[in-house]
Amino acid sequence: MAKFYHVLNYGCQMNESDAEHYAGQLKELDYTYTGDVRQADVVVVNTCCIRESAELKILGKIGELKHVKAQHPGQIICVTGCMAQKDGEALLKKYPQIDLLLGTSYVNSFKDVIRDYLEGHRKGVYTSLEVQSSEFEGQRVRESGFSAWVPIMYGCNNFCTYCIVPYVRGRERSRSIANILEEVRAAVAEGYTEITLLGQNVDSYGKDFLRNHEEEKLTSVTAAAGLISDEALRKEPFAALLRAVDQVPGVERIHFMSSHPRDMTEEVIKAVAEGTHLCEHFHVALQSGSDRILKAMNRGYTGERFLELIQMIRKYVPKASITTDIIVGFPGETEEDFAATCKLVEEAKFDSAFTFIYSKRSGTPAARMDDQVPEDVKHARLEALMQVQNNRSLCINRRLEGETLEVMAEGPTEKDPDTWSGRTRTGKLVLWPQQEAAEIRPGQLVQIKIESGQTWLLKGRRVR
Ligand code: SAH
Ligand code: SF4
Ligand code: F3S
Repeated sequence: MAKFYHVLNYGCQMNESDAEHYAGQLKELDYTYTGDVRQADVVVVNTCCIRESAELKILGKIGELKHVKAQHPGQIICVTGCMAQKDGEALLKKYPQIDLLLGTSYVNSFKDVIRDYLEGHRKGVYTSLEVQSSEFEGQRVRESGFSAWVPIMYGCNNFCTYCIVPYVRGRERSRSIANILEEVRAAVAEGYTEITLLGQNVDSYGKDFLRNHEEEKLTSVTAAAGLISDEALRKEPFAALLRAVDQVPGVERIHFMSSHPRDMTEEVIKAVAEGTHLCEHFHVALQSGSDRILKAMNRGYTGERFLELIQMIRKYVPKASITTDIIVGFPGETEEDFAATCKLVEEAKFDSAFTFIYSKRSGTPAARMDDQVPEDVKHARLEALMQVQNNRSLCINRRLEGETLEVMAEGPTEKDPDTWSGRTRTGKLVLWPQQEAAEIRPGQLVQIKIESGQTWLLKGRRVR
């Protein structure tokens, strides 16, 4: 009898990538995807705990699954990812409908855990952070038909004082360059032309190998053969990796995220400037424009240093889009600190920004700091900051009116099948009328003349 699985994913791109890997392993165990959670024999809830709002949403969903499971005896509910890592056993006690709890370092061993469960039907909690294979094995079921996530490193060593990620994802572990190139080549062979290299701090790629005397994981010439010199790999592993991926035949577009303003180098920016397929988009999280708050956040740069980096990007890659993340209401943030953030946002001229209200994460240093900012103040600051950024985004996007841009088509919009959406190399969303479905497929590169630049998107029409 056919067996079905369903995956519910929350959180960042790294989680999306992990979810594809969970799905891949279920496929290897002969499960088939179903869009209907009620039909699923195995349900995976891949969780995030970056902010309290994310957790509340997920807990609501896990609550609902109790009723789904009541109608489907024998259904296996697996809760995976960052919240599972953080709360472990406590989650299982509170939600007895959960059968398996897997922390973030079990992504590669999911198949074995399921097999064990099928034999003994015993609930299990797997949250050791020791089982850390950073090499990717097995298959994936990718969500997109043309765009592929490729993690280059896992974990984070930065311990920004507000952030839970280092506690739930463990220390930085890079994947060997051979393993990364193998996945890129395999993806291209399956028809994927867009590659996004993922890591919490991509500029740290490979530094763990250099520290641990595992240089061969960077310089295994057989894999990188002819693509890049061993010396370049040893000197600036991330920049060299970018140049190597750029040379893989068949790759059309390469993106990477996230970059840390403290660690991004001139060499990385030059690699983008000189590359063919490396896209002109930099996501560099500012977090705050106040030096005092940046220090309390343990970010390792000042507002001035951040602006220098922005200038350097604009010097080498004048057409680059630059996006960012900002937190308002970090403990102790005064009106003056917040004004400094708004000022810096004006000066940096970001294409867009993800803005967040600080959320207290227990176990992190910031959660224990005095002067937590009241909720209403945080909300007012978020509104004000979004206004500043929205005005800028609109202004930048308006300037693109009249230009013809290369757009990678994604598919018809949900609202209107005759309108397609896609992305520019700089990551901007573009909509255009597309009546002849036969003339286009997802992943295709088309030329769109921009007619209207708006705050969140561009609208245009197809030319040629
Ligand atoms: N490693 C990446 C992304 C980290 S999570 C980076 O450093 O760029 C994505 C964003 O969530 C962060 O950049 C930060 O802006 C936000 N974030 C992290 N912890 C948060 C918290 N406790 N409250 C509010 N926002 C937070
Ligand atoms: Fe969190 Fe900072 Fe690491 Fe990003 S760099 S994941 S914000 S600790
Ligand atoms: Fe969330 Fe974990 Fe990503 S906490 S943002 S899913 S690394």
